[in-house]
Amino acid sequence: MNPHDTEYHKKHEQRMKLQDKLLENKQDKKAILACNFYNYETLKGVCLAVKAQKVPIILQLTRSSIEYMGLHMAVAMGRTALDHFGLEGWIHLDHGDSPELAYKCLEAGFDSVMIDASEKSFEENIMITRQVVKYARNYGASVEAELGYVPKLGQLQDKSGFTEPEEAKRFVQETGVNALAVAIGSSHGFYKEEPKLDLERLAEINRVADACLVLHGGSGIPGHVLKEAVKRGICKINIATEIKNIFMKTLIGLLKETEEIDLRKVFPPAINAVSLLVQEKLAIVSSNSPGEPVGG
Ligand code: 13P
Repeated sequence: MNPHDTEYHKKHEQRMKLQDKLLENKQDKKAILACNFYNYETLKGVCLAVKAQKVPIILQLTRSSIEYMGLHMAVAMGRTALDHFGLEGWIHLDHGDSPELAYKCLEAGFDSVMIDASEKSFEENIMITRQVVKYARNYGASVEAELGYVPKLGQLQDKSGFTEPEEAKRFVQETGVNALAVAIGSSHGFYKEEPKLDLERLAEINRVADACLVLHGGSGIPGHVLKEAVKRGICKINIATEIKNIFMKTLIGLLKETEEIDLRKVFPPAINAVSLLVQEKLAIVSSNSPGEPVGG
């Protein structure tokens, strides 16, 4: 399909591109929140929060969420929600594990894709990422990649595999990637102990690498640490686990107390809980006020 034929792309062309927004963030030392959604209810919770705070947002989908909702349904839901709530936002593939998935998402109208070849060798990661960047250029889309070891759910949370600044510089130069997820001590899922981010390393990567830096594993990182990370160069912060967690915990609690079968009465408190959580995160990420000292 010609990427410029779809309604999505006609509207999309009039909006600021995500890569330009990210660049603006890097220059202004600001960050944008990227929230994963899993169904209509979590999407609505995120969008209500964004509408209340009047800030831009990235709506993210992983392969599992795409498989759960269906690719076209998922992207249409995200796009329609942005229109319906009047939000400035973008749809992004989170942790694309193959170029083929990234290509399908671009064809379906995503604004941005992540190609995560971080578990391959440095050279292979460059080769795969470069391929996706080339393809994404046809769609005017942004590309995120990952360099270093940011533990995924169930993987060991240790200090190995932090991103090396010089490698990050070379990686960005050789791939032309717009955004780079860095390994500086965060990991996906909940933390066993408070994460200590290597902020000096982050500042150095930011100084030498010409891309917007992304912090994965945002759930459970204290607000003042997130603010410090933004000051040192993070311009996109991902939140997923806390959204799933608050939605399900609220729902489970309610279902213990009610026999109500009208799901339209049972879901709203869980949607509201997601909205409150995301409002809190947006207040941290979007405000320019200084955070408490790290470790304080
Ligand atoms: P959390 O699930 O830890 O919030 O991480 C989200 C993320 O980085 C998605 O890529």
